Amino acid sequence: MVGVLLLLLLLMPVPATATAQLCGNGGNYTANSTYQSNLAVLVAALPSNVSSSQQLFATATAGHSPDAVYALALCRDFANAAWCADCVNASFQHAQQTCPYHRSAIVYYEYDSAQQPGCVLGYSGDDAFLSPATSLTENGTLFQSWNEQNISSDARIVAAHVHELLTVTAQDAAADMTRRLSSVVMDSVPMLYSLAQCTPDLSADDCLACLQRLIAMFNATTSVRLGGRIFVLRCNIRFETFMFFDQPMRRISPSSISPAPPTGKTAARAPAPPAAHPARPPPDHPAPGRTRPLAAARPSARAACSDRLPRTPAPPLAASRAPAGRRCPCSLPPPMPPLLAARSSADPSDATPARCPLKR
Ligand SMILES: *[C@@H]1O[C@H](CO)[C@@H](O)[C@H](O)[C@H]1NC(C)=O
Ligand SMILES: *[C@@H]1O[C@H](CO)[C@@H](O)[C@H](O)[C@H]1NC(C)=O
Ligand SMILES: *[C@@H]1O[C@H](CO)[C@@H](O)[C@H](O)[C@H]1NC(C)=O
Ligand SMILES: *[C@@H]1O[C@H](CO)[C@@H](O)[C@H](O)[C@H]1NC(C)=O
Ligand SMILES: *[C@@H]1O[C@H](CO)[C@@H](O)[C@H](O)[C@H]1NC(C)=O
Ligand SMILES: *[C@@H]1O[C@H](CO)[C@@H](O)[C@H](O)[C@H]1NC(C)=O
Ligand SMILES: *[C@@H]1O[C@H](CO)[C@@H](O)[C@H](O)[C@H]1NC(C)=O
Repeated sequence: MVGVLLLLLLLMPVPATATAQLCGNGGNYTANSTYQSNLAVLVAALPSNVSSSQQLFATATAGHSPDAVYALALCRDFANAAWCADCVNASFQHAQQTCPYHRSAIVYYEYDSAQQPGCVLGYSGDDAFLSPATSLTENGTLFQSWNEQNISSDARIVAAHVHELLTVTAQDAAADMTRRLSSVVMDSVPMLYSLAQCTPDLSADDCLACLQRLIAMFNATTSVRLGGRIFVLRCNIRFETFMFFDQPMRRISPSSISPAPPTGKTAARAPAPPAAHPARPPPDHPAPGRTRPLAAARPSARAACSDRLPRTPAPPLAASRAPAGRRCPCSLPPPMPPLLAARSSADPSDATPARCPLKR
């Protein structure tokens, strides 16, 4: 018994991280400047302010114009607030390492564990940074990641299921008055799990608009992948074929109407009452074909970070939009231990750009 336990512990993946960042190019601050000391105030205060907030969300301002620094941070999970502070702190450290002296940066930081929350952190010297309106109309900094493998069922049906799942999840998140967060499981084959989240300062309409813009990026190719996720500063959405979060979730059935190409009928949503059940992923939950760590990307418009990002022409969404010299916007987790080997997969033909060095 003890032996079995030990073995299990040894086989548990060491928490690894996946990160992506976008460095604003709206200018740099200098060493020992007022801007730097204002940023330091936020580094010291924001992690605990976020984790002590009921929504695990906080905005903060330090200093006065023109040296004011504006920041926001959002954790993605509600299981353990202590991890949230660590995540925001780690994101600040990551930002300062990868975007040294940049006045603005946005970091997405994730631990490779369903029990630890990921988080999003952004800071900027622009006072419009914290305005939901501004960061919504601008098209936002984007992190996206797709599993390289496809779900092996009828592509049209899978795509319809994924779309329906994401749409319900987005509607639920927008309707959640306190957290703007929802998770849904669909009784399809395979089972599909999703999570959608907005920053809680968004209105229901703004949240829905933010998420719908992301859902529109799940096209015929990406919506049949074995998993995918897209992040902008103020909202994010993800689906997988395994339970990747530690949240009560609503269960729905796929609409029975089979998808009719190309537009089809609007599928009637199955009348599934919200059936929250405490969904704790088992510690050894299988995670087939885990999605690859993130490629930072941004659409053609400005970054959410109102300090401007580099004006490179906008290649397709999956391509890296990291500034020159920063071609590697992600860190791959270390290889999985043997039993979990199925989790990692690599398809060299995938469009994701930089092959990032392993980082622990
Ligand atoms: C800011 O600093 C970074 C790294 O030190 C440098 O690569 C970049 O050119 C600087 N940007 C500006 C606008 O000075
Ligand atoms: C910043 O302050 C530190 C400690 O006071 C000092 O060692 C360093 O030389 C200063 N750097 C600049 C660029 O002024
Ligand atoms: C952190 O929260 C405390 C208590 O609510 C508040 O006084 C402080 O100003 C906050 N810090 C920042 C940087 O917003
Ligand atoms: C934040 O991270 C740094 C570097 O890992 C560490 O030195 C510091 O103690 C951390 N701060 C908090 C409040 O945990
Ligand atoms: C953001 O994207 C939408 C849809 O692609 C577009 O209509 C809108 O003009 C863009 N906004 C900005 C500020 O570029
Ligand atoms: C995944 O499906 C797309 C079409 O939806 C197809 O073009 C692609 O080759 C498939 N990839 C794999 C790895 O099966
Ligand atoms: C689907 O989206 C991906 C990633 O955004 C993009 O690379 C691909 O070209 C799109 N495919 C289609 C068929 O639109």
